[in-house]
Amino acid sequence: MAAQQREISVAEFFSKNRHLLGFDNPRKALLTTVKEGVDNSLDACEEAEILPSVRVEIRPSETTNGNGADRFVVAIEDNGPGIVKAQIPRIFGKLLYGSKFHRLKAQRGQQGIGISAAGMYGQLTTGKAVRIISKIGEKKPAHLYEIHVDTRTNRPEILREEVVEWHQTSGTRVEIELEGRYQRGARSVDEYLRQVAIANPHVEIVYEAPDGQEVRYERGTAELPEPSKEIRPHPHGIELGILIKMMKETKARQLRAFLHQDFSRVSPRVASEICKSAGLGEKAWITRIAREEADRLYRAISETKLRAPPTDCVPPIGEETLMAGLMKECEADFYTAATRPPAVYRGNPFVVEAAMAYGGSLPGDEPVALMRFANRVPLLYQQGACAINKAVASTAWRPYGVQQPKGSLPIGPVLLVVHLASVWVPFTSESKEAVAHYPEILKEIRLAVQACGRQMGRFIKRRKRAAEAERKRSYIEKYIPHIAIALREILGFTEKEEETTVEELRGILERSRK
Ligand SMILES: Nc1ncnc2c1ncn2[C@@H]1O[C@H](COP(=O)(O)OP(=O)(O)O)[C@@H](O)[C@H]1O
Ligand SMILES: [Mg+2]
Repeated sequence: MAAQQREISVAEFFSKNRHLLGFDNPRKALLTTVKEGVDNSLDACEEAEILPSVRVEIRPSETTNGNGADRFVVAIEDNGPGIVKAQIPRIFGKLLYGSKFHRLKAQRGQQGIGISAAGMYGQLTTGKAVRIISKIGEKKPAHLYEIHVDTRTNRPEILREEVVEWHQTSGTRVEIELEGRYQRGARSVDEYLRQVAIANPHVEIVYEAPDGQEVRYERGTAELPEPSKEIRPHPHGIELGILIKMMKETKARQLRAFLHQDFSRVSPRVASEICKSAGLGEKAWITRIAREEADRLYRAISETKLRAPPTDCVPPIGEETLMAGLMKECEADFYTAATRPPAVYRGNPFVVEAAMAYGGSLPGDEPVALMRFANRVPLLYQQGACAINKAVASTAWRPYGVQQPKGSLPIGPVLLVVHLASVWVPFTSESKEAVAHYPEILKEIRLAVQACGRQMGRFIKRRKRAAEAERKRSYIEKYIPHIAIALREILGFTEKEEETTVEELRGILERSRK
């Protein structure tokens, strides 16, 4: 056995377990690749405060595998800040490499395993390298790279490297050739981009589909969203292992300074308090703190009362913007939205918002269409496993005037959008498709959709009342001439008198409507 033991590289692991990253089948692989590219483009543009213009191209490739599956070249191009030359190989040729994992900040990427995994999937299915062009400024050259991932070592292998002419002032273009399947409809690239446009009205997207058709999503606003702030971890949100890791990596040398500097909401006074209740000196050298003492420190931290983490770091999309996005993409009779105040799960601040469209062209006899977003990214798969789905299904919808089979999504002409923004979105897996069921998150989602539900319920009631009144009125109206005829016969009215009576009765009906 001893001879068979050897280290497994992450690249090797994920090439065998590619379903964990969203590459389970050719159709999903195509979507995941586009998604990883677009997420990165938008993150990079927003961080650099550039209004994003993204171009997505999917072209059938000239070569085929001969096994019936289709091959495509997917290209994602942005006008973002670009990537410095030295970083390009590692970003695209090494899994678990990125700038976001160690930072608590509301952004789309977090694990450092997005675009490199897409490139590796392409390489596995077609043998082709990832092609990157990137430029970091007007006067800087554009660099072209072709890169393979060496899966055995999880290291980049550079196949080509040169300076080229490129039309963008700054930005990045990534091209991946892969085995995929293109199909429009639910969970397609087309649907994904439509939803991106709804939740990101500041983004301009030009999309060239495999059949050559071009779809454009114009900007709804030229204003960038409020930037999300990076925060330090809140002590109540960390596990013991993380605490030990933080102690290893900290720049602080003494315990009290470490607690104060590396966490949010720990004032020097609170830091002293924690040291005291852990039975450790304020000036204890971090490097000398033993495993057992770390245990005590961890317990002392969880027993100390602390202020909740700052919550201004998770800016929501906002009720107006969300509604405007919905109105642009969906024709309905009524729209509403609700943004909840920020809340906290496991020490991580988050905010939930919901928007709803009712009536119009929406189908009335199907379950409501639910659009889920996490940090403005549409979630298209694993709806059943998602906290958003669970919270919506476990809300009572009948009081709001729509049908609901027990324990399922309500039925009615409703499009429901739910957005969760957080410095750390708790996904159920690396493929980032479903949100984990934290009670705090479920509760906030319920409160947000209930707020929208109440507004919708009021609208439905009002409309029912108006329709009822209209029905009665037209009923009475129909009988007015007959009443007049009866009156003429009984009271011996002249024709003129009969006419006046009809007019007067109509007048009364008209006035009573107000
Ligand atoms: N289009 C881009 N423009 C600028 N930087 C990028 C771009 N794409 C990727 N990056 C950088 O590469 C890193 C790795 O990307 P990725 O593998 O998708 O992981 P993640 O997005 O989870 O960090 C990102 O953290 C980012 O710093
Ligand atoms: Mg990414």
